Amino acid sequence: MTNINGKRLRERIHTLGRVGVAADGRRTRLTASDEDKAGRDLVASWMKEAGLRVVVDQIGNLLGIWETEENRGEAPVMVGSHIDTVINAGQYDGCLGVLAGLELILTLREQGVRTKRPIIVGAFTNEEGVRYSPDMLGSLVYAGGMSCGEALATVGTDGTVLGEELARIGYAGTVRPGFVTPAAFLELHIEQGPIMDAEGYDIGAVDRLQGIRWQKVHIEGAANHAGTTPIRMRADAGLAAAKVNIFCREMVGKSGGVATVGTIAFKPNAVNVIPSQADFTVDLRNPDKAMLDHDEELLSGYLKELEETDKVKITTQRISCFDPVSFDEGICRKIEAAAGRRGLKARRMVSGAGQDAQMLARICPTAMIFVPSVKGISHNPQEFTSDQAAENGANVFLDVVCELANN
Ligand code: GLV
Ligand code: MN
Ligand code: MN
Repeated sequence: MTNINGKRLRERIHTLGRVGVAADGRRTRLTASDEDKAGRDLVASWMKEAGLRVVVDQIGNLLGIWETEENRGEAPVMVGSHIDTVINAGQYDGCLGVLAGLELILTLREQGVRTKRPIIVGAFTNEEGVRYSPDMLGSLVYAGGMSCGEALATVGTDGTVLGEELARIGYAGTVRPGFVTPAAFLELHIEQGPIMDAEGYDIGAVDRLQGIRWQKVHIEGAANHAGTTPIRMRADAGLAAAKVNIFCREMVGKSGGVATVGTIAFKPNAVNVIPSQADFTVDLRNPDKAMLDHDEELLSGYLKELEETDKVKITTQRISCFDPVSFDEGICRKIEAAAGRRGLKARRMVSGAGQDAQMLARICPTAMIFVPSVKGISHNPQEFTSDQAAENGANVFLDVVCELANN
């Protein structure tokens, strides 16, 4: 049984994890920022050191290609994930999948193993969607779900244009996204939820991923004096926003989904002024598309009701809309079998997070491997997966990629 080099994987996770850590200790590598550039430069240097051909496509996806004389021209197996992060992030989300992909190629090369298909490891642009929407943008464009032109014109939360920022950091490539259609795609990722840790599982064979809908909500009320304006005479955008947040929470309590108001800004944002404007985001998710559609309709109805009851004007803008995805059953079985051969305990999982794999599933058989996140903490610097758990996952990843690449 071939094993990846756990020490090298671990060291690289921590080396990449130090990139983009500010003086205050917070790790942030937003898409196409200087910190993202530094992370990309590091990963690209490791790809080159591993003897891979490095390709950057027009949406900035960074791809390392391992092909030999014998397998050139065959449809490759693709692996990968992302290295952009949320604000004040942990060091495993996305990075484990990219670095374990690189690690498995290095292992195969060092062991002199030849595969029938080339293997490509990718770091996709803007998976997190914090700076630019939608999330999973690079893999979405790669899979043909959005035109590259439209994606490059995306305006970020800071007013920047993605295409200009990619050019600025030197990652506006020339190769057409989707230039090669993989025979299969496999992504290793931390679970980012509490189930595997709580139940004592080593490996998740991810067969489904829940649907995701993001929208921006703008509420227009009227600024007025906080001390003199009677409650009944207010058009309080801030209060209306709070009601929306509570409505969403109660709504998903019935539908079995999740809802998050993760950003909010008031205007004029002063202690003694009734907010005239509230701008916030709503993230709705559900593994059941019908339920998700229904929740969106309920929310839309509630916003109309609020306009009447709270004397405000409300507009919305949808910024992300992805339906639930089913992954490839055959690959999930291979993951379970590989885990079994290594004496690891596996279970089926649904991904609560959005993933690059959900986009690649549009163009080739795709699945994911999860490893446990201690206490289920993620999108938080406390995010942690033990060295052994990461190594177990990377070894199962190696086994399944080998099978797929010899198929
Ligand atoms: C990506 O991390 C997402 O699920 O929002
Ligand atoms: Mn991720
Ligand atoms: Mn994430």
